[in-house]
Amino acid sequence: MVPLTTLPTSYLQIIQVFASIILIVKISAVIKRAYLTPLRKLPGPWYAKWTDYWLKWNVVTGNRTQYIDGLHKTYGHCVRISPDEVSFSDINSHRTLHSVGSQFRKSEWYKKFTNSEGKFDSPGLFAMTDPREHGNRKILFSQQFSNSSIMSKESVIRANIHMAVDKFSRDAHVNGFADIMKWWTFLATDVIAELSFAFNLLQYLPIEKLQVALNTSSRLNEYGFLAIQNHKEFIMKNPDASNCLFSRFLDPTKSKAELSDQQLAQEAGNLIVAGSDTTSISLTFLTYALLRPCNREVRDKLVDEISSLPIDAPAKDIMMLPYLKKVIEGSLRIYGGGPSLPRVVPSSGAMLAGYNIPAGTTPSTQKFTMMRDSEIFHDTLSFNPDRWNAPTPEMKDAYSPFLTGPRTCLGMHLAMFEITCGIFHFLKKCPTAQIAPSTTDESMEFENYFIMAPKGHALYLRLDL
Ligand code: HEM
Repeated sequence: MVPLTTLPTSYLQIIQVFASIILIVKISAVIKRAYLTPLRKLPGPWYAKWTDYWLKWNVVTGNRTQYIDGLHKTYGHCVRISPDEVSFSDINSHRTLHSVGSQFRKSEWYKKFTNSEGKFDSPGLFAMTDPREHGNRKILFSQQFSNSSIMSKESVIRANIHMAVDKFSRDAHVNGFADIMKWWTFLATDVIAELSFAFNLLQYLPIEKLQVALNTSSRLNEYGFLAIQNHKEFIMKNPDASNCLFSRFLDPTKSKAELSDQQLAQEAGNLIVAGSDTTSISLTFLTYALLRPCNREVRDKLVDEISSLPIDAPAKDIMMLPYLKKVIEGSLRIYGGGPSLPRVVPSSGAMLAGYNIPAGTTPSTQKFTMMRDSEIFHDTLSFNPDRWNAPTPEMKDAYSPFLTGPRTCLGMHLAMFEITCGIFHFLKKCPTAQIAPSTTDESMEFENYFIMAPKGHALYLRLDL
């Protein structure tokens, strides 16, 4: 490269002119974004008009939800959180963004999150933004993830639950305490891997790094690819043996594959990310809430209810237990799924919380604030499952751990199966479990990257007799 000092003065002047023009264009764009769009009328901190750095700082420090919740407390239901992003905390905006037929697409952020931006022909179901492409792909997977399909895999899921609880209990007996979150994570990851490919993928997976989905997704795609090759060979040798979620796509007798190997690997990697931490963290918070001394009454009532069934009762009977269902809903309402899911305002623009929001803006709803404001919970970890005896329309709409509308969770039935049968088996096998001193309310406070997880990344329990 030629050093600038050796260039003739006229060249330097030209470079200066160009640099000045670029600077002026950039500054004008920033001023325009700050003051000349309808977003200027929105409440919010002064700096959010100019920069998204403060928001980003809170994201990288795991504080996004707490930060935005604080802004809602100051500014109300609608807050501009960055030059292009607006957060809402009213139930009507939530209904508008996530209803069936919603015109609000997922934002490009999802491609960055799944590390698929510019790398693949298609980003996979979770990150797809085009409604038609997404609808077609979702139809392909829906049948395999339906309730009846998941119930038909009861033996595989139950075997994994038994193994996780048994191993937790063995650890706790040997060491005096054990981390149930670790075993819930193994369980959720093993189940989705085993159901997808009919063999245990865990032996290949870097489990501790699953916590950092961003960094592992490309590696997960490689493992997904490997698993697909192995599974194809398995089906060739055992044509009648396969009953996995991906069988339909891996049938070597079909003349034209519905999805390419690369697309399957991408989907497999995404499913492991979408289905592991979400389920294991929900199970962890549920276990913690049940074992807190202030929830003793709820736990006793639940233990009483589950004593009506034997430990090997069929899943369909366990899933019908009414109090168990209410307890699970009670904990999912707080921690289930992503607390704010970014969308894009369609070309027609939108009216949200009484404000005119221009096309291209990224709105999201702040579930945490919405739930607190609608008085669906008071103290985050104190249970009152009986509040769900007669939920108001607001409570029903605000309760959306799996979301509603076109982007509703694909793995909802699988997750509910794992959580319901998982906690049932845990309470049956470990009736004396207590929170160990190394787990505190502080270590169980949540941090929020995409989903909400306990800050301590562990839930230590002991099994006192
Ligand atoms: C308690 C456990 C779970 C919770 C709370 C949960 C929650 C959610 C939520 C809120 C969404 C919408 C995300 C968004 O719009 O950004 C979602 C989407 C999704 N979830 Fe789950 N999920 C759970 C378990 C699972 C499991 C076990 C699987 C698969 C094995 C799974 C697969 C997916 C997929 C593929 C999507 C994308 C669907 C689409 O875009 O059409 N989830 N989930």
